[in-house]
Amino acid sequence: MNINLIKKDYSEIQSDVEILIVKNIKKLSKKDQKILKQISFNAKSSDTYFDVNTKKLFVACSILKDEDLKIAFSFAIRKIKSFKFKNVKVNLFQNEKELKIKDVVEGLVLGAYNFTKYKSSKTKDTKIQISLCSKDLKEDFDSLNIKLQNVLAITSSVNMVRNIINTPPEDYFPQTMANDAIKIAKENDLECIIHGEEYLLKNGMNAMYNVGRASRHESKLIHLTYKPKEAKGKIVLVGKGLTYDSGGLSLKSGAGMVSMKCDKSGGSAVLGVMNTLKALNCQYEVHGIVGAVENMIGGDAYKPDDILKAKNGKTIEVRNTDAEGRLVLADCLCYAQDEVSNIDYMFDYATLTGACIVALGNQTIGTMGHSDKLKAKMQKAANCSGELIGILPFNRYLPAMLKSGIADIVNSTSSRAAGSITAGLFLDNFVKKENKKKWLHLDIAGAAYAESPWAYNSFGGTGSGVRMTLDFIKNLK
Ligand code: BES
Ligand code: ZN
Ligand code: ZN
Repeated sequence: MNINLIKKDYSEIQSDVEILIVKNIKKLSKKDQKILKQISFNAKSSDTYFDVNTKKLFVACSILKDEDLKIAFSFAIRKIKSFKFKNVKVNLFQNEKELKIKDVVEGLVLGAYNFTKYKSSKTKDTKIQISLCSKDLKEDFDSLNIKLQNVLAITSSVNMVRNIINTPPEDYFPQTMANDAIKIAKENDLECIIHGEEYLLKNGMNAMYNVGRASRHESKLIHLTYKPKEAKGKIVLVGKGLTYDSGGLSLKSGAGMVSMKCDKSGGSAVLGVMNTLKALNCQYEVHGIVGAVENMIGGDAYKPDDILKAKNGKTIEVRNTDAEGRLVLADCLCYAQDEVSNIDYMFDYATLTGACIVALGNQTIGTMGHSDKLKAKMQKAANCSGELIGILPFNRYLPAMLKSGIADIVNSTSSRAAGSITAGLFLDNFVKKENKKKWLHLDIAGAAYAESPWAYNSFGGTGSGVRMTLDFIKNLK
């Protein structure tokens, strides 16, 4: 898909189809009203209708902004793909309103995505050319074009993240993730360091090391750095990159294992953000740290009852090898804080707990941390970018659930109560005192992977976390 902003008169632009957003049928021309009345088009539904004679694709949409508008454009582009049209035009001034280019383009690019790499009968996607018309808008062409380039950078990163998540575990393992990081680094002038298992052992990262022990694939610790001139501050992003989570010896059920390729979503989101910073001319130094590991079974697997010493010296009693993400993140958080001084913000992204899905559903990111101000700031970024977050509160009583009789803490509590929060509190053991209020834990277990399509997400990886984080960074002073 190719999207361009055109200065010409809208009527002069040649196309196979134009997208018309219908808020109120009565506001349309008499001719268009007649067309839509004949088919009982309902502007308050999610109707779409293509009229062959006028080459108009009518799309119902009751609110002309944000998620409503994005969803309307995603329905439009799916219809256009199914008709195999090649040239599309959109007037950004419709219904007596200027449609925000961000909403229109996010809807189009994210809605058009589907993962066809493994389909043998390739009905080749036709290359679609979309012309956006800017003639009647108040904003000047150049500043609109910058907005277009920014949203294209963001949405293509989201789709890249979706591709990573959707790639099956046979083809995507820690080294693959490291290779992607190297490629992203080359394309965006980032520093890139990849550490293997020898490094993990030498540096006391036994929690992360042990999770990957039974896999035939070596674990990789990925560290990308974006360094602008005279950075305004430092941001650290840490991601859970479980390229597959079988549960380990505390094996998942057959049904529970399906889709566990999505357990790399947190790390993938971090790669997605790192892939966009240069295009957005970010003024902050940003570190992207991913623990890429495969959690498998076998004679060399780590076991329930093992006690692991993390990088900061804390000992962890393993009670469940399926609570592996927190072990990987524990060491990655320690590594991040040992390697980066004077951190301003530290966020971790992880498909950490099934309990988060039970609590918040399949769309909402569970957010935890010690600073109400920071949580509110992230909530605002989520609202502005079209992601959903829900705050799960820490309290003074829950940490007791992590007590171990034999080590400092357990990796899995004996009761299921507050499963996402106790996972967040487990991670808190690996956050240094000076960083407590700078840290947020984002549990994307539900939002990262669509078991059935919703909004502009098709089945599979959604790219959860990327847009929200970029919005957060953009709004920093
Ligand atoms: N990767 C899973 C969490 C998950 C579940 C992600 C469903 C996406 C969809 C995680 O490693 C896990 O297995 N967590 C356990 C923790 C438990 C053993 C304390 C869980 O949620 O059951
Ligand atoms: Zn697990
Ligand atoms: Zn997991």
